[in-house]
Amino acid sequence: MGKVILGVGVIQLDRRKKTPLHRQLYEGIRRAILESKLERGSALPATRSLAKQLNISRMTVVNAYDQLLAEGYLTAHAGSGTFVNCNLPDDVKMARFSFGSAEEGAAMAPISAGDSVQPKLSARGRRVAATDEGMRPTYKDQPALFSLGIPALDEFPLDVWTKICRDRGRAISIFGLTYQQASGWMPLRQAICEFTKLFRGIKCHPEQVFVTAGIQQAIDLTSRLLLDTGDTVLFEDPGYWRAREALKANGAALLPLPVDANGASIRSCGPPAESAKLIYITPSHQFPLGVTMSIERRIELLDWARRHDTAVIEDDYDSVYSYSQPPIPSLQGLDSSQRTFYMGSLSKLLFPALGMGYLIVPSSLVGAFESAFKIVGRSPSLFMQQVVHDFIAHGHLERHMRRMRKIHEQRHSALIEAIDRFLPDKLQLVGAPAGLHRTARILIDQPDTVLIEKIANIGFKVQALSIDSLTNSPDHNGLVFGFGCGTPKDISAGIRRIAAVF
Ligand SMILES: Cc1ncc(COP(=O)(O)O)c(C=O)c1O
Repeated sequence: MGKVILGVGVIQLDRRKKTPLHRQLYEGIRRAILESKLERGSALPATRSLAKQLNISRMTVVNAYDQLLAEGYLTAHAGSGTFVNCNLPDDVKMARFSFGSAEEGAAMAPISAGDSVQPKLSARGRRVAATDEGMRPTYKDQPALFSLGIPALDEFPLDVWTKICRDRGRAISIFGLTYQQASGWMPLRQAICEFTKLFRGIKCHPEQVFVTAGIQQAIDLTSRLLLDTGDTVLFEDPGYWRAREALKANGAALLPLPVDANGASIRSCGPPAESAKLIYITPSHQFPLGVTMSIERRIELLDWARRHDTAVIEDDYDSVYSYSQPPIPSLQGLDSSQRTFYMGSLSKLLFPALGMGYLIVPSSLVGAFESAFKIVGRSPSLFMQQVVHDFIAHGHLERHMRRMRKIHEQRHSALIEAIDRFLPDKLQLVGAPAGLHRTARILIDQPDTVLIEKIANIGFKVQALSIDSLTNSPDHNGLVFGFGCGTPKDISAGIRRIAAVF
């Protein structure tokens, strides 16, 4: 095969680009090969001659050729020159997206529908991807006032936190750079064990504590390990929609577990409930209704779970914040049959961007969860675990928690006073003064989904209660207000503005 002319017509070099000339030349030749503009087996110009044609240095051409030789696009035969590799397959359409510099990549033509190379989602993948659909109204740029699950970030002791980060950063060692135990850094697991014993009445050994990327990950992992597709799960109705979607994505068939003023009522479930493999509950502060599960209901549920050999997820996301009475100890601490999977979140205790929480599993399943964590879990970065450890071990978490309780209480008071003042006959508060949100039933004839759109249009992020409904009961028509992330003044002014859209 004769020599190809590889001049300025085929290769275009642009000295204004950030991409070095040898890289541009390499990409140009590679593209010409992949697009079959250079035939398999054809000879390339000698380096000196191409350099002259393109008005660049010979070294630039040598560098580009060397790279193409190393990657197998070209072959060199001593004495006879450099050739396009004859053995490259002809159908190289698939490679189209992989070439081009970052600058050029952005300008590449998309693959046409006829090429049809998009990977297809599995049925499971479609379940997971569908979970967000229709859940949220579209929010414009807006303050996060009334967002759910966000503590008073403006009161977070950033100075203390950054000092711990600095100290830890300075003390970093080679040990801190390698792979770590997937289930979490043991000193932090010990600290969480002590903390939850003291403040939540948890009974556990540090080995039972797994450091997670938050409760959401804990729910996903636990359901993967406990459920087969089609297994029945009893789920609070109404109940936390993200937990519901995580369970559904893992194949759960959900049965409603009714919630009233005393919390979830296992007694109200019919016989189909008896086949349940798992129960999901938020006993300390029910999400979204905000009620606290009574001690009778707790004992009843644990007894029922023991008789039917059902596991229990206790989602204890914001229980340390209780304003009218001391927080009620956890369900896990009452469970003598060791079937409770206890989940806590540092998103509410510290801040959501931390992305950290903990899962406390029954001792009989520690080994299984350790194995699973190596495959699908893995705890957050060692550095952040160490910082959190120091924050707890030096007593900052306890101090922070006590301070936040007062601050959140003031914000909560501002919310209920404002609702009482501006919306007395439109909203009726339900649940207890606790946590970081308060829910109100709508007393007028307006669906919550319509109201939250109107509220979003004036810049506030309130959640519709119906999003959390399993049965679409007319009772589940309400608004869920987060009150952690606004000053009392902001909250009061916000409710006043919201009142105008009713
Ligand atoms: C009931 C409930 N569980 C869990 C979470 C999420 O916790 P995490 O941020 O640790 O995933 C939230 C967040 O607001 C929640 O409301």
